Amino acid sequence: MFNLISPYEEPEFAAWRLRLRALPSSKVSVRDAEATRQDGRLMSWVQAECESTYIQSVEYNVSKIEQQFVLLARIGEQPVGFSLVFIGPEESDPLFIQLVAVVPAARRRGVALALLSRVAERAPERNIALATLDNNVGALALNDHFAKSIGASIRRVPVSMYRRSHLGFAQSESHRPWIIERSHGVHSSLSFDKDSHT
Ligand SMILES: CC(C)(COP(=O)(O)OP(=O)(O)OC[C@H]1O[C@@H](n2cnc3c(N)ncnc32)[C@H](O)[C@@H]1OP(=O)(O)O)[C@@H](O)C(=O)NCCC(=O)NCCS
Repeated sequence: MFNLISPYEEPEFAAWRLRLRALPSSKVSVRDAEATRQDGRLMSWVQAECESTYIQSVEYNVSKIEQQFVLLARIGEQPVGFSLVFIGPEESDPLFIQLVAVVPAARRRGVALALLSRVAERAPERNIALATLDNNVGALALNDHFAKSIGASIRRVPVSMYRRSHLGFAQSESHRPWIIERSHGVHSSLSFDKDSHT
């Protein structure tokens, strides 16, 4: 079990939130997260600022950086978002995008697209799987936009296609999965594995 110290108790969190009100016009930059308390903390700040994400402990976030593929985005010096990806163990597995979170103050500036583009570069031969709630208009539009930006197609797949844990949501959540198929990627039907269903 990890200890959750609320970001709201941290003076640095309050200062970061104030700086979000005056974001510079600089371009978005993206880097790999490091398995440090500081990067785990930045993730928890973004989680606190985004309406639909759970705030996780610093230790939990650091464990995700260690085990998965996490990118952090900045505008100028200001951290504004991150992506969390699970890279399936089989070569035929897609990249599972489990979360993309961008603080409201930095939205519609291409931050999510910059993160997803870097994710796509990480394994150009793989397709990309993700799950969204049907009412998450922003995420649905982003996924369409992203698929087009890399010249790929996007389509729904059955909920049973992938493990929920790979897609990053719980049994109780009603996210529905999608596959972004790259023309040179492994066709998703090849990665369909009935035995792996939960
Ligand atoms: C969804 C989310 C990640 C988008 O982040 P963002 O940095 O604002 O997205 P971008 O600026 O890169 O958007 C790229 C394109 O996606 C589409 N898009 C993104 N958000 C949109 C919205 N709210 N409404 C309509 N289209 C949207 C647009 O086509 C946009 O291009 P445009 O601005 O030139 O029209 C952000 O709103 C967020 O963090 N939401 C809360 C967490 C969440 O729901 N994450 C997704 C599920 S994991």
